[in-house]
Amino acid sequence: MAAFIQRMSCLLAVWLAVVLSGIQAVDRSNFKTCIQSSFCKRMRDVVPGHSPYRALLETLELSNTRLTLQLINDNNKVRLLLELYRLQGNMTRLKINELKPLRPRFEVPDVLIADPPTEPLSLVSQDEGGVVLSLGADARHLVVSARPFRLDIVEGPHVLLSVNSRGLLAFEHQRPRKDTLSKISSTVGSMWDTIKNIFSSSSENDSEEVEAEEDAEDQNYEKEEDQADMWEETFKSHTDSKPNGPTAISMDFSLPGVEHVYGIPEHAENLRLKTTDGHDPYRLYNLDVFQYELYNPMALYGSVPVLLSHSTQRTMGIFWLNAAETWVDISSKAAENTDSVQAPSKVAQTDVRWISESGIIDVFIMLGPKPTDVFAQYASLTGTQSFPPLFALGYHQCRWNYKDQEDVRSVDQGFDDHDIPYDFIWLDIEHADGKRYFTWDPAHFSQPREMLQGLVDKRRKMVAIVDPHIKVDSGYRVHKEIRSKNLYVKNKDGGDYEGWCWPGTSGYPDFTNPEMRSWWASMFAYDQYEGSMENLYIWNDMNEPSVFNGPEVTMHKDALHGSWEHRDIHNLYGLYVQMATADGLIQRSGGVERPFVLARAFFAGSQRYGAVWTGDNAAEWSHLKISIPMCLSLGLVGISFCGADVGGFFKSPSSELLVRWYQTGAYQPFFRAHAHLDTPRREPWLFGPENTALIREAVRQRYALLPYWYLLFYKAHGTGQPVMRPLWVEYPEDVTTFTIDDEYLLGRDLLVHPVTDEGSKEVTVYLPGTGGVWYDAFTFQRHEGGQNLYVPVTMSSIPVFQRGGSIIPRKNRIRRSSSCMEKDPYTLYVALSPQGTAEGELYIDDGHTFNYEQKKQFVHRRFIFADSTLSSSNISPDSQFSTASWVERVLILGAHKPSSVTLKTSGGSVASLEFDFDEATSVLTVHKPGVNAGADWTLLFQW
Ligand SMILES: *[C@@H]1O[C@H](CO)[C@@H](O)[C@H](O)[C@H]1NC(C)=O
Ligand SMILES: *[C@@H]1O[C@H](CO)[C@@H](O)[C@H](O)[C@H]1NC(C)=O
Repeated sequence: MAAFIQRMSCLLAVWLAVVLSGIQAVDRSNFKTCIQSSFCKRMRDVVPGHSPYRALLETLELSNTRLTLQLINDNNKVRLLLELYRLQGNMTRLKINELKPLRPRFEVPDVLIADPPTEPLSLVSQDEGGVVLSLGADARHLVVSARPFRLDIVEGPHVLLSVNSRGLLAFEHQRPRKDTLSKISSTVGSMWDTIKNIFSSSSENDSEEVEAEEDAEDQNYEKEEDQADMWEETFKSHTDSKPNGPTAISMDFSLPGVEHVYGIPEHAENLRLKTTDGHDPYRLYNLDVFQYELYNPMALYGSVPVLLSHSTQRTMGIFWLNAAETWVDISSKAAENTDSVQAPSKVAQTDVRWISESGIIDVFIMLGPKPTDVFAQYASLTGTQSFPPLFALGYHQCRWNYKDQEDVRSVDQGFDDHDIPYDFIWLDIEHADGKRYFTWDPAHFSQPREMLQGLVDKRRKMVAIVDPHIKVDSGYRVHKEIRSKNLYVKNKDGGDYEGWCWPGTSGYPDFTNPEMRSWWASMFAYDQYEGSMENLYIWNDMNEPSVFNGPEVTMHKDALHGSWEHRDIHNLYGLYVQMATADGLIQRSGGVERPFVLARAFFAGSQRYGAVWTGDNAAEWSHLKISIPMCLSLGLVGISFCGADVGGFFKSPSSELLVRWYQTGAYQPFFRAHAHLDTPRREPWLFGPENTALIREAVRQRYALLPYWYLLFYKAHGTGQPVMRPLWVEYPEDVTTFTIDDEYLLGRDLLVHPVTDEGSKEVTVYLPGTGGVWYDAFTFQRHEGGQNLYVPVTMSSIPVFQRGGSIIPRKNRIRRSSSCMEKDPYTLYVALSPQGTAEGELYIDDGHTFNYEQKKQFVHRRFIFADSTLSSSNISPDSQFSTASWVERVLILGAHKPSSVTLKTSGGSVASLEFDFDEATSVLTVHKPGVNAGADWTLLFQW
């Protein structure tokens, strides 16, 4: 009974904390700083300039594609094994592990899509100072220096990147626990000898010289002092038992000529990363951070350990493949910096130090040189954004919670009554029976199929939440089966790990186990997930994993996934949850339908499984503003399908903030409104007719542009190029763009500068591209590129510009949902460059199956306007798909008045078309070409 009361009061405390959320900011004391994370502190205490590591050149072995070399730490004689690979596509991979680890160290599985293809490495020269290897083209070399160990990647006379140039390589070798040994040595005595014997027997085949060094190693082992917290560490009321002792790793990278670095999401931070001198490094540790603060390096829900550097000369990337808790330090010297000790240095430099708690050093250096090359390089390693079903790009209406079927029905009807399109309505945790996921609350959702059928009838869909914490309840089938199959994560003592989450005491499925994932996937079959139907999709929240009563609101690091500690895999857990869920949705359709799964926690590679959002933000202007750099940072590291809760999750937005948020969200990849349980209702029509109209207009703009969004996702899926892009990606030599994060590009052709300030009367939009032009997407006014444009705004303004030289397809007949618009005709917006040319693409398929991939059933056309001719041609001649859509109108922006417009079809027919020319805006509107969107045709203009 006492235990029961304790449980209840614990739950109550959690509940209260949530309920009172509207008033508190993040409780920072719940989360560690670097100093409170003992490995971070130890690694950060390593000072530059004294590397104890030396490369033992006599151990060098070079096969065709791999170089191995031993490194020795001269302080303790422990040896490391370095492996170097030259990878296809301008990449170098560098791995460092202990030469003879006491136990294997964790190497991250399932993130790389394949063993990266290698290219031959050849030795150029070698002397006692080091070796030089050729990296193929462009006089690019890899220089390995022996004393101290250092790597430089050079191109001609230029150093592109150096490794360990500051001497911060550190590798905590595994060791026997000394304090235990000395304490028990009088009684047990021989344990240390036993361990020594294990060591010496494993080295019996080595040369005598090495054996001598190993004796020295043993002695140094004994001499090395254990530091506080190496074998056990306490944070708040939690003790981490650390049975394997210290295992941290650290490495530094120097980037000469670089002043701007980006990436390593997820942080509530500007696009351009700041230096971390004098404060905490950026932390990567997936956490359920309650009411996160902005502009700081604290960890959030997801982690992608990829950093990009950019200068006018080159874009590069560093991918640190490690799933343990990780910290990233950034320091930089500005170009004009003068150093009193050394000669004045004119060259800027950024130094990056990575620190992880366990695992090995496994780094991919992506050499670019262009932004598009780095995206392609990273995509070749971890895959591309999954291609979502078209309807997932529509608008999503969510709230915690729609309380019953009648509520769902009336919200759905509200969209029709107010003529606002939407595709998905979402159910949060209250829909399930006592937070037992895969079930329905019998009182409020007793007829789920009836509810889903109601949505099918309107060609709409639903998302239900399925979280990875499973209620411990012997009457709950999901729990019973996972327990009987022994597939839960274990605690350090080998029992099932239990923690508190929404349902109360919960077990956590071990998603790192393929058997667990495949069982989970099977649960989405229509006959397993009762009440589910084809139009039900899934949302995985809390997959950091969130454990309310765990250290830092997550799982204990000494919990066990098979033989690996949670410490090793932590940042991967969320990816596995989303992977298994997405597989489940694919399997339930027999491999036919594309899945849609949203997840809060993520890792490198998560882009392959669905969408992510920026977690529990707040209804504040600052949170609206930061949604832009947060999604841009994710896009840079492969995760294009990103959005922020429209309106803000915590607290209540003013109607002005809500409208501005809809206007911004309509131009971000994942467009979903969401709200906390305690907030007043905020469906779009609850703020008066004027605001309803403004929101309607923003959502309608989204639907009109769905053909463009769909094309961008198709291309992101094919090539790894981000959908939402910082300006510098397209204007890599324009330094003005390097720090801009209040505006962005969608693809290459739309520039968006959302209004994110309260009471705004104007925004200043930077239009890049000197010599080019941009057109206001609504007034069609033409503006020169390469300038700051002052744009007056009213509440209805969404500053969006189309690039001169581009052609964008839209569907202007807005209906209830994207599916209802499937067969609608297209309008082409041809925005002429100063040279009078333009180019664009159109992609069409069935919108939801894998047939585009498996059967090449799609339409992919290129439109080119040049020499007074607009033509449509097939980009992919072996594809095949018939669309009912046709081209109903063509707008030419920046045009002259023609004397005639003639249509020629592939069948040879020729027709004269009607047109209007607006002198004031220089817009030529060609009416009813009437051609099928999949056909070849040409429009000829006589001026
Ligand atoms: C590799 O780099 C060279 C120039 O440094 C560049 O021309 C080439 O396109 C790059 N290749 C890839 C696949 O990125
Ligand atoms: C010594 O080398 C032999 C032959 O390569 C191998 O079979 C044996 O396992 C090695 N012994 C140890 C202890 O490494």
